[in-house]
Amino acid sequence: MMFSKPIAGCMRWGKWGACFTKAEYAAAIENCVANDILDFDHADIYGNYTTEAEFGDALVSLPGMRHKIRLITKCGIAMPAENRVQHSIKSYNTTAKYIVSCVENSLGNFSTDYLDVLLIHRPNPLMHPEEVVAAIGTLKSQGKLLHFGVSNFLPHQVDLLKNYVTVDCNQLEISITHLEPFMDGQLDYCLTHQISPLAWSPLGGNLFRDHANERHAQILKTAATLALKYNMYVDQILVAWLCQHPSNIVPVLGTTKISRLAKAKEASALRMENEDWFLLYQASLGHEVP
Ligand SMILES: NC(=O)c1ccc[n+]([C@@H]2O[C@H](COP(=O)([O-])OP(=O)(O)OC[C@H]3O[C@@H](n4cnc5c(N)ncnc54)[C@H](OP(=O)(O)O)[C@@H]3O)[C@@H](O)[C@H]2O)c1
Repeated sequence: MMFSKPIAGCMRWGKWGACFTKAEYAAAIENCVANDILDFDHADIYGNYTTEAEFGDALVSLPGMRHKIRLITKCGIAMPAENRVQHSIKSYNTTAKYIVSCVENSLGNFSTDYLDVLLIHRPNPLMHPEEVVAAIGTLKSQGKLLHFGVSNFLPHQVDLLKNYVTVDCNQLEISITHLEPFMDGQLDYCLTHQISPLAWSPLGGNLFRDHANERHAQILKTAATLALKYNMYVDQILVAWLCQHPSNIVPVLGTTKISRLAKAKEASALRMENEDWFLLYQASLGHEVP
């Protein structure tokens, strides 16, 4: 399936970040759509199980908006929260009954009758593949779910599901500060099986905040040089760097500033010179490639 680049990550829009008001959520959604950013990434747990409903509340105040956008959400992490008193510790749950009940909750939160994409948030050591397959089959046949994917799954964990249900995407941590997927087979697997890799924390999450970190400083310094060369901002260079990978990485940007999302869209089309890509790679490794 095709996602618009970048995806707007909503984890920091609510109580886990900017604490948007209803008007700010609505303005953010409208602004994204005006910039052709149509995919919104959620998880049931964001804001301690509150962000989906806040977003949904704003969404219904925008007539016709639901059908212009795509809603991605995740389930499978069960954690204690004020509105989840039945959870006494953080755990994973991927039974068919649990997945279906999470989707029903999310549909209610968004005031919609279908989700565009559901991801299993984390691999679960107790996952029975047939439970997941049954839940996804039921939800799809009821028209409540259009696409299915996973998040943080290793290739052999995707294999558990892939033969029985279409896995459209795998949301992984991929960024200039998290290089493992480039070399450990994760992105090669996505490319081989035509699974869309969605990059969470594509700007390293705290890259811009963690000033004392030597490696971060080196990355930012190198990105600043390239920003001058390509007449772009530093964050745009980091987005372009990800988008250059042949697996067609789709960044899930966590910014709460919509102008940064729009700039990232522009950057996703940039193709930097080969040596420039490796200049940043080298800055992150701390040495030249072997
Ligand atoms: N599947 C999973 O397990 C998982 C895990 C974590 C996250 N996610 C998803 O990934 C999304 C992105 O994660 P993230 O928020 O950690 O990623 P990120 O996009 O790497 O980082 C966002 C942070 O960087 C800041 N930032 C961005 N551009 C900046 C700039 N030019 N200067 C200074 N600060 C800048 C943002 O602040 P401003 O708001 O001020 O721009 C924000 O605090 C989340 O929203 C969520 O949807 C998924």
